[in-house]
Amino acid sequence: MPARKRMIITGVSSGIGLAVAAEALRLGWHVEGIGRNAPTLLTEHSRGAFTRCDLSDRASLKGLSLVSDQSFDLTVLVNNAGTLGPVKPSYKASWEEIDHCITLNTSSAMLLSAKFLSEVTGEKQIYFTGSGAAAYAIEGWSAYCASKAAVHMYAEVLAKEHPGNRIHAFMPGKVNTPMQAEIRATSTEDFPDVVHFVEEFESGNLVLPETVASTLLRVVEMEAEIPVIFSISNYTT
Ligand SMILES: NC(=O)c1ccc[n+]([C@@H]2O[C@H](COP(=O)([O-])OP(=O)(O)OC[C@H]3O[C@@H](n4cnc5c(N)ncnc54)[C@H](OP(=O)(O)O)[C@@H]3O)[C@@H](O)[C@H]2O)c1
Repeated sequence: MPARKRMIITGVSSGIGLAVAAEALRLGWHVEGIGRNAPTLLTEHSRGAFTRCDLSDRASLKGLSLVSDQSFDLTVLVNNAGTLGPVKPSYKASWEEIDHCITLNTSSAMLLSAKFLSEVTGEKQIYFTGSGAAAYAIEGWSAYCASKAAVHMYAEVLAKEHPGNRIHAFMPGKVNTPMQAEIRATSTEDFPDVVHFVEEFESGNLVLPETVASTLLRVVEMEAEIPVIFSISNYTT
């Protein structure tokens, strides 16, 4: 009998999360999305499901259950939901803006992973959508860079604590999603490097979300050991 595989993905309404959900369904996985907005891809598919949850809201997150009434050979959690957060000089970012960015990008992914490891049985893997911004200081992106640096380090710690589970954060590159459109719409005053992001887009250099998705699904099935933090481009064929 073929293995029964379940993938839980946060932030599935657009961009990378939606593409990963589509690819996983195509490959026969059961796919459960978590987020604020449900894609019809999941609500109308026999192997799809969706749970509404604002991951920046602690009470909603606490109420989530990751237990399944079906049994699976493998369950994968993809912590993907995220925000660019305040794009402005760091001294102008408010408590609320910083708190929202760190809560959504970092704390919710940490809490969901802990819940996943304690509630879900069978073979488990966790992936975090990390970022090159975790290791590269970008003027105007202080909260985002800090949130993703924390995610990378959290993945490293989790991987050490759970050597029997595959736990990774991946850097997808600059991907053609609504988040990149949001970046291009910022001002040079708030984000001095915006012109390079516009150039990359206009030159057709952005990675397709579908490429990230197919590569991630291949990595999930790979036998070979890979670094805890990896670039999608290193495994794209
Ligand atoms: N695009 C890039 O170049 C790039 C590069 C490096 C890393 N990333 C990371 O990739 C991930 C996905 O981003 P994307 O580029 O695909 O952009 P996107 O299309 O804007 O996706 C963001 C996802 O997060 C969800 N989300 C936002 N706020 C949420 C909340 N409060 N609760 C639950 N879900 C929420 C959004 O859904 P709703 O708005 O419907 O709730 C959406 O599905 C993010 O973690 C981002 O930091 C992107």
